[in-house]
Amino acid sequence: MNLSGNTILITGGASGIGLAFAERFLEGGNEVIIVGRRQEKLEEAKAKYPKLHIHACDVSKLEDRVKLSEWVSKEFPSLNILVNNAGIQQRVNLLKPDKNWDYYQNEIAINIEGPIHLSMLLIPQLKNQKDAAIINVSSGLALMPGVWVPIYSATKAALHSFTVSLRQQLAETSIEVVEIFPPAVNTDLGGAGLHTFGAPLGDFADTIFQGFENNRQEIGYGETENRLKATREENLKGSQKAWEGFLKNNLDWRG
Ligand SMILES: NC(=O)c1ccc[n+]([C@@H]2O[C@H](COP(=O)([O-])OP(=O)(O)OC[C@H]3O[C@@H](n4cnc5c(N)ncnc54)[C@H](OP(=O)(O)O)[C@@H]3O)[C@@H](O)[C@H]2O)c1
Repeated sequence: MNLSGNTILITGGASGIGLAFAERFLEGGNEVIIVGRRQEKLEEAKAKYPKLHIHACDVSKLEDRVKLSEWVSKEFPSLNILVNNAGIQQRVNLLKPDKNWDYYQNEIAINIEGPIHLSMLLIPQLKNQKDAAIINVSSGLALMPGVWVPIYSATKAALHSFTVSLRQQLAETSIEVVEIFPPAVNTDLGGAGLHTFGAPLGDFADTIFQGFENNRQEIGYGETENRLKATREENLKGSQKAWEGFLKNNLDWRG
């Protein structure tokens, strides 16, 4: 992938992995547009990086996605890269669901409906560019489910499946399709403080950018590189072991 001279839209770009990517794309001489729900987070990012373009958008909402695609096509006709990065992660005890369905459905809408629909809305514009890309941020949990985050893991497995089909359908177009499989990375995912054990964000992002430079289609980091090569049985065993570890560290889970 050519890493300069692009116009790039990053969902969830005001924090964590999205912001780390935005910084690197800006340094590389690209126009970068970031979107997210919280206006104050977008403004905070813009105060730090004045060249950023910001736009409030909730990717879980159909009308927001349509408005975003119309706005971006009008204001940034040169848009050639979409990064589907926005995501949330919720712990869900399937034996004790204590929220209404809207709460659970929101995770599905953000993590999988958003990327599918935004891709479909923007493919007509992207395919007219000489070089273009759709970069989907899935997860190591797409390959090895995190049992304590069952809906999240299912959305990421679905995003992985969609990305495989997308790549094949777009094979004859100018749009490259890249998937990133982060392991646990130290961001605010799931709520502040829940991922502090994760990999350092800067090192993770630098490694992913090396993957872009090397034109890799599926890019992992550390443990998730192993999962990409592991057998189904190895990943299932890994999932069970992680679940046992989770239960040991969360004695109140079963009540
Ligand atoms: N950190 C990890 O350990 C890890 C591991 C595997 C995969 N990932 C994936 O990496 C991606 C980025 O996560 P992160 O770790 O950087 O977490 P993060 O710091 O919480 O970033 C998530 C971003 O998504 C935005 N977002 C959430 N819901 C949105 C919505 N409905 N519409 C628009 N934007 C929305 C958030 O901004 P607002 O709240 O302002 O909307 C936030 O900027 C996610 O897809 C996540 O699943 C992360």
